[in-house]
Amino acid sequence: MSSNNFNSSVDPVARRTAGALKWTRYDADVLPAWIAETDFSPPMEVLEAIRSVADTELVGYTGPENRLIRACVNWMRKRHDWIIDPDLVIPLTDVMQGVEAAVTAFSRSGDAVVVTTPVYHPFFEVSPSAGRRQIEWRLRRDDHGWHFDVDDLERVLQSNTDASVLLLSHPHNPTGRVMDAATMADVVATAAAHDVMIVSDEIHGDLTYPGPEFRSMLSVEGAADRVVVSTSAAKTFAISGLRASVLVFGSHDVMGHLKSAHPRMLLGHPGRPGADATTAAWEHGSPWADGLLEHLGAMRTKLIDRLARQAPAVRFHPPEATFLAWLDLEACGLGESPAEHLVDVARVAVQEGSVFGTGSRHHVRLNFGTSEALLDEILDRLIPHLQS
Ligand SMILES: Cc1ncc(COP(=O)(O)O)c(C=O)c1O
Repeated sequence: MSSNNFNSSVDPVARRTAGALKWTRYDADVLPAWIAETDFSPPMEVLEAIRSVADTELVGYTGPENRLIRACVNWMRKRHDWIIDPDLVIPLTDVMQGVEAAVTAFSRSGDAVVVTTPVYHPFFEVSPSAGRRQIEWRLRRDDHGWHFDVDDLERVLQSNTDASVLLLSHPHNPTGRVMDAATMADVVATAAAHDVMIVSDEIHGDLTYPGPEFRSMLSVEGAADRVVVSTSAAKTFAISGLRASVLVFGSHDVMGHLKSAHPRMLLGHPGRPGADATTAAWEHGSPWADGLLEHLGAMRTKLIDRLARQAPAVRFHPPEATFLAWLDLEACGLGESPAEHLVDVARVAVQEGSVFGTGSRHHVRLNFGTSEALLDEILDRLIPHLQS
């Protein structure tokens, strides 16, 4: 699909009528740029897969999801050069379920779990709900952007010898940072030296712009016994409501450990529409995803350009991946809750930065995964309020 089709396929009225969370949380005159979901309809093959579930009238128990697993293995090999053993994939219902299952399987009550702040806010619920202690490896910011400083990780692990899991958002939500190969190798080596397991949420992995290439943490040498990946097709194809994901392992020992920690009934199972839609996305969605990346790249360029020209007070490092922009609005003087303020004065809903933890003061996260016309309107409304 070309950028033009992405522009014409966004229909706010249809989305509101259908009850899309993104379009119904705020008043109808508010433009939504908050939750991490694009406004695009998925590829035709995905919609056909959902329809055909109804057509077959077979809606009882199904499985095993061998086609889903095969589609996952092929997608990751073709798009990310990542070789997965199909016997080391467990289908689940969503990425956060996989994250929770892995974090709890590889830590004990009271252990420390490391999160990389600022970070995707539901990560903060994992440790407290499982009786783990949450500690931070803070991203460092300089004039070139946000960085994973592995020396800092070493210090964090040295002073927290009870740390057993490092939870990564890779590529990183909200900064859009993509770790380079050398940093990934250093992270795995540092985790290994401290006997820490890495749980890598790679849901944004497909959405990387030209520049640093996305590589799975599991493809790093030495990662097989050290890394578990939780991912899905949900962000790329905007199919989060269908609930299907995968947990990917590098060794039978690691997978066996997780399975024994969580008997099958506790792990759950994707429903057939979600499994079939994800399979269709991974089997047929490559050209569509190429078009999506082209369109998102154009929206990202527009955002960079308009903010630089019309709102230079906004401190902003363009994301290397994701359709999310992490904006520092301190110089705009919007107070401690800039997103709340912007809904009131600009009638645009961006995500409040403070929920992303340390490093997020005065920030908001803006979703630019929409049509050009809507992004322009979002920026037209915001920019007068983003001045020093
Ligand atoms: C980093 C990250 N992980 C997980 C999710 C949610 O995935 P799921 O709904 O499959 O749990 C999101 C959604 O925004 C996300 O950004």
